[in-house]
Amino acid sequence: YYTTAAAVENKRKESILGGGKAKQDAQHAKGKLTARERLGLLLDKGSFREYDAFVEHSCTDFNMALNKIPGDGIVTGHGTVHGRRVFVYSQDFTVLGGSLSRTNANKILKVMDQAMLVGAPIIGLQDSGGARIQEGVDSLAGYADIFQKNVLASGVVPQISLILGPCAGGAVYSPALTDFTFMVQDTSYMFVTGPDVVKAVTNEHVSQEVLGGARTHTTKTGVAHRSFTNDIEAIQGMRNFLPYLPSSNRDRLPNQPCDDPIDRQDAALDTIIPASSNIAYDMKEVIGRIVDTHSYFEISPNFASNMLIGFARLNGESVGVVANQPLVSSGALDMDASIKAARFIRFCDAFNIPLVTLVDVPGFMPGTAQEHAGIIRHGAKLLYAYCEATVPKLTVITRKAYGGAYIVMSSKHLRGDYNVAWPSAEIAVMGAKGAVEIIFRNHPDKEGMRKEYKDKFTTPLFAAKRGYLDDIINPRETRARLIEQLELLKSKSLQNPWKKHGSIPL
Ligand code: COA
Repeated sequence: YYTTAAAVENKRKESILGGGKAKQDAQHAKGKLTARERLGLLLDKGSFREYDAFVEHSCTDFNMALNKIPGDGIVTGHGTVHGRRVFVYSQDFTVLGGSLSRTNANKILKVMDQAMLVGAPIIGLQDSGGARIQEGVDSLAGYADIFQKNVLASGVVPQISLILGPCAGGAVYSPALTDFTFMVQDTSYMFVTGPDVVKAVTNEHVSQEVLGGARTHTTKTGVAHRSFTNDIEAIQGMRNFLPYLPSSNRDRLPNQPCDDPIDRQDAALDTIIPASSNIAYDMKEVIGRIVDTHSYFEISPNFASNMLIGFARLNGESVGVVANQPLVSSGALDMDASIKAARFIRFCDAFNIPLVTLVDVPGFMPGTAQEHAGIIRHGAKLLYAYCEATVPKLTVITRKAYGGAYIVMSSKHLRGDYNVAWPSAEIAVMGAKGAVEIIFRNHPDKEGMRKEYKDKFTTPLFAAKRGYLDDIINPRETRARLIEQLELLKSKSLQNPWKKHGSIPL
């Protein structure tokens, strides 16, 4: 007795069909693609190698023995994106709502293990009704094993989640543990407890979209990092994003061909800082003029927008950009901005991506709202992240760098490798107005004292004389200087003292 190739192919077809034509039509009617269509768009043509297409669940309760589909509601394997290897899993909502069974979890764990072994990113396409209810604790154990593996993989290989449908209950914690989460508007949602439970417990009426849709998570909570209008755009966004990341923490940085001259000078930068220091300008424009043309990929553009974070390229190589945005809250540091940047800095450090910081910060945001919600604790995260990072750290102060925020924003004192300022920089404990109110409270000539203070401190020279800045540069030269220093710093070698791990203020 032996199985014929035809029998194997029949079984494979069954697996590929998933929940069947009617369920696939229902999936399309909701504006969603199927699990396999998504993988077809994500991976380079013909590169997908599927694992475990024949795996079936072993649950016998609730008539489940009669409800088996090979593959068990998840498609796993590996393929390439722009020629680079990635491991993938894609939940198939047409099979028992893409719910997670013990077997189904084992398939995910298998590709995660292999990704860590060979050093390649893991991309999870989520579209699931959560833990498979019929299996009870077995499915919960499956989630637990995935969470544990997510944590072990953290900082070893990039982990990215695409939320393309429901992701509720315990299921949210796997994406939450991964490095980046992208969502689709209107068809995806994430919450710990859904609208029905919210209503029962708190009597609050809220829609799925408001409770945990893409808009909520990319503007209010910061849980998701980018949102897209449909599956196709989200998957294309993922394809655009991946080339910025190394495949693992032991991989070289990916290098793209760069046709933007490395010594390109941009005269517009010389006049971008407004004449009055109270007038805002767009730091995104500054970033765009410094990095390789069209290479800035922003992360969390609509959450804590007083802080800009994103990947870009300088001479074809990835850098992590962190920058204050004077257009929003004058670029002041608040809790969300601190946490947003801290997490990004730690990702870059874990994966050896150099950090370029652009500073224009009037200070930390004052007021009871921030103080009582713990700005001390949360601001410390940003400080910790910069202090801990051993990757090349390059900092350009474009204008304001005041008080604690000056120190925190990748100053020389935090093992900065190349710290420069534009001539427009103002570096001091605080602005002239506040300072004179404190140290010259009773002085008859407050205006005169403000002028004296400004002459002394509203300049980068005071800091440069002490070596706290390596140079004062013309804004137009910024790109060339950064590229030169990045080249130099390629051989940077710096280790923190041995420890099990630090205790970052959480
Ligand atoms: N376990 C087992 N089967 C599940 C499931 C789960 N967690 N979630 C959904 N399914 C099944 C449904 O029974 C249905 O099966 P059928 O086609 O044989 O009738 C199929 O998946 C599709 O689900 P349906 O409810 O018809 O889809 P929907 O788009 O209307 O709703 C959800 C989607 C996710 C909102 C809804 O299925 C749901 O609330 N699921 C439970 C969520 C949950 O609480 N999970 C546990 C938390 S960890």
